[in-house]
Amino acid sequence: MDNITITIIDRNGVAQNYDAPTDMNMNLMEFCKAVELPVKGECGGMAMCATCQVYIESDTQLPERSESELDMLDQAFFVKDNSRLGCQIHLNPSLEGLIVRIAPEID
Ligand code: FES
Repeated sequence: MDNITITIIDRNGVAQNYDAPTDMNMNLMEFCKAVELPVKGECGGMAMCATCQVYIESDTQLPERSESELDMLDQAFFVKDNSRLGCQIHLNPSLEGLIVRIAPEID
């Protein structure tokens, strides 16, 4: 009952639907890692690396970007208007139907 369906498009353009839990205090970066998508999340979710960057491809309403998220996106590569840091997106019921695309890898 506490799951939502989200779609994640990988770097090969392959879209997959996932049942994601909303009762485990998980963020999108952690979820991607849990389902073995190639998202590094190097800073552990501190909004300090941008290796969890995704593009939001649905019209899902998300919370505003925090100052730290904005600062990190300012310095990141491949940033678009719909860029977000996956680690700053907490899985909750309002994200039902969310569609995200994983941003290109940075070295
Ligand atoms: S995991 Fe580093 S910014 Fe999200």
